[in-house]
Amino acid sequence: MRGIILSGGSATRLRPCTKITSKQLLPVYNKPMIYYPLNTLIKAGIKEILIIVAPERAGDYLNLLGSGKEFGVKFTYEIQDKPRGLAEAFIIGENFIDKENVALVLGDNIFEDDLSEEIKSFNAGGKIFLKEVPDPERFGVAEINDAGQVVSIEEKPTQPKSNLAITGLYVFDSRVVSVAKNVKPSERGELEITEVQKWYLNNSELSYGKIMGEWIDAGTFDSLLRAQIFAKEKMQAKMVI
Ligand code: G1P
Repeated sequence: MRGIILSGGSATRLRPCTKITSKQLLPVYNKPMIYYPLNTLIKAGIKEILIIVAPERAGDYLNLLGSGKEFGVKFTYEIQDKPRGLAEAFIIGENFIDKENVALVLGDNIFEDDLSEEIKSFNAGGKIFLKEVPDPERFGVAEINDAGQVVSIEEKPTQPKSNLAITGLYVFDSRVVSVAKNVKPSERGELEITEVQKWYLNNSELSYGKIMGEWIDAGTFDSLLRAQIFAKEKMQAKMVI
């Protein structure tokens, strides 16, 4: 299994803090934000990790994270020159993924749960991780039927069919590269990762896990503040890095 951390974007919602640095390098209590998703991958035993960054911040990431030796893993770096969407990570990562399965985590997502068994037990197809939230319209949303199967996936629906947000951790087999290449840009001009999930769903190859602990997408000032407190109170004992 390979790992990718998507840590690009310009994070205009966090201006002026992100004027001179990347959102995912901002402190979340006592560690840069990216340490938390990195922790999720390292805990799952993933040793080869591609970090995708915006060009103007590449030097900062290299200075902070280096080769990966310090963490017992190997980092590779790639540039996403424009925020063209999450699914582009699989196109940028084509050579890195090669014929392996891949876990993608977003650089601003913090998971309390230990997801290592869920990640390690993955064989083929696609897997998403769902969390009950009060504000599903802010996220990708999955609808589950009585038999516990995913029946629909929607990106930020105005009328969500459930309260199950699709969190920023995804596991796919290597077909994801060609699936992503066939995604057409959405109205907001991005290659939506929900389109990739729909391809696996239409093939009856999309499974899911449920997030029981806290999950925070730290992309706004309010969620970043929540993340700070949560990291101090709950995450310290769960960090291996
Ligand atoms: C992205 C995805 C969305 C997902 C969310 C998780 O949204 O498009 O499906 O629920 O990440 O953090 P964005 O952060 O691009 O608004």
